[in-house]
Amino acid sequence: MKIAVCGKGGSGKSTVLTLITKSLLNTGKKVVVLDSDESNSSLYWMLGFDSLPLPLMDSLGGKKKVQKKLIERFKDGFKEPEISIWMEDEITYKSLMPKFVLEKQGVKLIQTGKIHQALEGCACPMGVVTREFLKKYRLEPEEVMVIDMEAGIEHFGRGIEQSVDQVLSVIEPSLESISLAEKISELSRSVGACFKGGILNKIMSQDQESYLCSELQKREIPVLGVIHYYPEIQSACLMGKNIHHEKALKESEYIIKKIISI
Ligand SMILES: Nc1ncnc2c1ncn2[C@@H]1O[C@H](COP(=O)(O)OP(=O)(O)OP(=O)(O)O)[C@@H](O)[C@H]1O
Ligand SMILES: [Mg+2]
Repeated sequence: MKIAVCGKGGSGKSTVLTLITKSLLNTGKKVVVLDSDESNSSLYWMLGFDSLPLPLMDSLGGKKKVQKKLIERFKDGFKEPEISIWMEDEITYKSLMPKFVLEKQGVKLIQTGKIHQALEGCACPMGVVTREFLKKYRLEPEEVMVIDMEAGIEHFGRGIEQSVDQVLSVIEPSLESISLAEKISELSRSVGACFKGGILNKIMSQDQESYLCSELQKREIPVLGVIHYYPEIQSACLMGKNIHHEKALKESEYIIKKIISI
């Protein structure tokens, strides 16, 4: 199963993905994490890695080369989302060179690529690489892939969700986050992806939780579970440390039971 974790910037996508990853491991699943956020790099340390692997973009010759290939494909009359950059028909983590997959404590970490320099051009090549990688990636038995999406909804424009099995939306207590979850649910439906529901995050009171639940019910967004606000999680992020929080883990265990059959 491939699960895309979406939501508003700063809502807690990477944090929730980290908790979900650890809960999945505790149930005996193998987990592959794809970091497809071209801006932020925090995910690797949240997961307890010392660095990111080399980007998939480099396995294709680098961003400039991919950009050039894209232009050639457009000239040849191809249109998104049919454009193909990868030679392989099928990808597994074993078919990738080890420098593109880091492994620690049962988690495999892969990244698409990051923006490093001013004026280096748009992130279109990252979107194209992520889309085709997800389409061609063949999961092993008991393997689950979780994808840390960039904030917002641009990835829907690229058809990335067409290659995932489930879309989740992380919702923090803000109207903006609720509205974005509604948009994500609509867009998922429009591309034929399964929108599984919202995960409430950074919840500070029962009143907040009840209010969010009633607003989401009006919008027909199922609530998969709640992760409360924990100052220790915020401190870990401030210091660039691995996220490990027993109560939050228990909450995410409840959530994963709703999203996968164990
Ligand atoms: N449950 C929580 N309790 C306390 N702090 C949290 C919780 N979830 C997230 N945070 C804090 O909120 C901030 C944003 O979290 P995170 O980086 O996971 O969000 P994001 O949606 O991935 O952000 P971005 O859109 O920038 O990638 C971090 O400082 C993090 O520590
Ligand atoms: Mg993030």
